[in-house]
Amino acid sequence: MKKIAVLTSGGDAPGMNAAIRAVVRAGINSKIKVMGIERGFSGLINGEIKEMNLSSVGDIIHRGGTILKTARCEEFKTVDGRNKGHNVLKGFGIEGLVVIGGDGSFLGAQKLCHEGVPTIGIPGTIDNDMPYTDYTIGFDTAVNTVLDAINKIRDTCMSHEKVSIIEVMGRHCGDIALYAGLAGGAENILIPEEKSGLKKICEKLIKGKARGKLYHIIVLAEGIGNASELQKEVFDKTGIEARITTLGYTQRGGNPTASDRILASRMGAKAVELLLNKQSGRAIGVKGNQLIHLSIDEALSAKKKFNRELYALSQVLSI
Ligand code: ADP
Ligand code: F6P
Repeated sequence: MKKIAVLTSGGDAPGMNAAIRAVVRAGINSKIKVMGIERGFSGLINGEIKEMNLSSVGDIIHRGGTILKTARCEEFKTVDGRNKGHNVLKGFGIEGLVVIGGDGSFLGAQKLCHEGVPTIGIPGTIDNDMPYTDYTIGFDTAVNTVLDAINKIRDTCMSHEKVSIIEVMGRHCGDIALYAGLAGGAENILIPEEKSGLKKICEKLIKGKARGKLYHIIVLAEGIGNASELQKEVFDKTGIEARITTLGYTQRGGNPTASDRILASRMGAKAVELLLNKQSGRAIGVKGNQLIHLSIDEALSAKKKFNRELYALSQVLSI
């Protein structure tokens, strides 16, 4: 293999740049050419491709976002769209591809692979919703961003004796809410994996009030419900006016944590190693701090295990 390419696709995640840097530098170190495809699968279809060198990935390890830009591309879901992609890859002489993205992007990578393009998937999403890996690139940074917000909101809630609802991202997965809520000492963590949490809120608020505890932090995962509806429910049942903070895109940006940078660097270099060893169609993950790889097919069919132990702990500690 003489020439490979790397792209980022779907929602951006802090640490994607560190992964791009690792792919490029590990590739160059192995004496192959590395091309950067801009705007994900859309850039692949449109031939938005440039050669990367050591300095094109200089000064990016600490930056959020992705220097290659990212996009969502409906056309790539069609055979015609992907055929355009195949022709572009052929035209550029690209023999292998590294796709950095979430489960949607992995579906694209899986199809490319079945259609004959040696492809490796690196999990990049803040959601941590890819079941085959303990962690995805960007998750740790997003958790720390949410934690920072909880710390700040807690100061004000404590001083003014207020109740706060903090809505966080994660799509259908509650991991951002669970990890940040546990680390931030939230009184309630509401996640899609454990719906009973909703019922306990008002009971807990009333109990807290009775023992003179007038501040209370509720972390709400977007996958379980809407903050305004919860605010109304709390008011109707307890007469307490809760404040809402929706963290939104603050969770997608920012400097990646050391943990995300290291994970991204390891995964990027591993992707190059796998391509050079003719191991195609592999998804890279991490289990117990060891890098693993399995087929993208298996990765996509794995079922997410809910971390019940962590949730139970959060319940015990926020009594
Ligand atoms: P993420 O990768 O963050 O989960 P998306 O779900 O938006 O983000 O997927 C990113 C892109 O992956 C889509 O815009 C599309 O180009 C590609 N993709 C998603 N699903 C498929 C599919 N079934 N077949 C081919 N490509 C897909
Ligand atoms: O997948 C990352 C994510 O930020 C999810 O947590 C969220 O549900 C979604 O993307 C938001 O997508 P958009 O960028 O289209 O608003």
